[in-house]
Amino acid sequence: MISKSMEKALNQQIALEGYASYLYLSMASWCENEGLEGCAQFLYRQSDEERAHMLRIFRYINEVDGHALSPGIKEPAHTFKSVRDLFEQVYTHEQKVTRSIHELVSQSYEEKDHTTLNFLQWYINEQREEEALMRTILDKIKLIGDTPQSLYFIDMELDKINQMTAQAEGGEGERPYDNYPFLIKNKRMKSQLATVALILILTNSLISQEQDSISANDIEPPLRLELTIDGKTYTLKDGDEIKLKGVAANPTVSVRSAAFRQFQFESVYFEYPTHFAYTYEEDFGYRIWSLDGSDFIILMFVYDVPVVLDELVDEMVAQFGEENCTITPFERKLGEIPCAGKRIEVSLIGQSLNYEILDIPYPDDKKRILAFQDIRDETGNSSSESTLTMQQINTSFKLIK
Ligand SMILES: [Fe+2]
Ligand SMILES: [Fe+2]
Repeated sequence: MISKSMEKALNQQIALEGYASYLYLSMASWCENEGLEGCAQFLYRQSDEERAHMLRIFRYINEVDGHALSPGIKEPAHTFKSVRDLFEQVYTHEQKVTRSIHELVSQSYEEKDHTTLNFLQWYINEQREEEALMRTILDKIKLIGDTPQSLYFIDMELDKINQMTAQAEGGEGERPYDNYPFLIKNKRMKSQLATVALILILTNSLISQEQDSISANDIEPPLRLELTIDGKTYTLKDGDEIKLKGVAANPTVSVRSAAFRQFQFESVYFEYPTHFAYTYEEDFGYRIWSLDGSDFIILMFVYDVPVVLDELVDEMVAQFGEENCTITPFERKLGEIPCAGKRIEVSLIGQSLNYEILDIPYPDDKKRILAFQDIRDETGNSSSESTLTMQQINTSFKLIK
């Protein structure tokens, strides 16, 4: 049973979601008339989503013995100045919906209505993701511009999102945006931090995707062996053969595993400590390699769509809490390659973490990002594992054309 005031407030939320559904429908129609097929499909889908949001509240009200009311909908605008204007309106409307959800949350706190409070949790997450998605689209439009020529590229971007969404929906009931790399990327980051920040384990569920086929990326770089014969060392991989000419009759031979493995994926090459655990994950539009030591972790992200490093950083900072982070612009030469990025110092529950996030320049459409995570010791110094690993990466790093 919910209170009359809560019933009224939830019915108002129904009207807000319902209006969004009709507004997005109107926008879809405008885009279709303008020949922007990608934008139109995206908005048709959004319109359906909003209707689903509305129905979810509708059902809930009746379930808890209230009376859900089918709302009268104000006629939305039918024309828009530009694509940018349109998405600005979408973003503004999403922000309005978020504020309204937050007010409902406050009200259920005040009324000690735990059932509604629990029901609203889903909407809080939904709004966070929707806002992030719309902001991303809007940022892209600002970046690309919305002159007639650039409309084509904007439409292609939206079409990419549509395709990812469609693929995701073909999967096992995943939420449509879960596979949009902008939103997913920091979940992996979070999973790294979870080792030290229990608080994040409690508040975030990690994503685990089942992979159906094994690719070359799934296979860990082989262990290398150092064979020393009479003081001369040869480094070999499993299955390698060497021919030695003129070796003495009674050679002294010793063998041990090499200290470093060779990472060589997506044209990026470097050497990393043999004992680091190798994992690989992929989904639509992105791939992530993770090399985990005990204090130090190397992550390589490869996205098929243009991803802005600063946004990745912003999202990480938002997750850790701005008050816990210090961000500084940062440059580092890897091998001969100058890379720019950001450093984030995170202090959480007595632990100090250092992230270096670097853009790897490469002349193709993919985006490569290398991230290093180091757990600092009590005095704030880098771990010795970090120092050794970075030395090896710095000397061995190269891009393979
Ligand atoms: Fe909604
Ligand atoms: Fe929405």
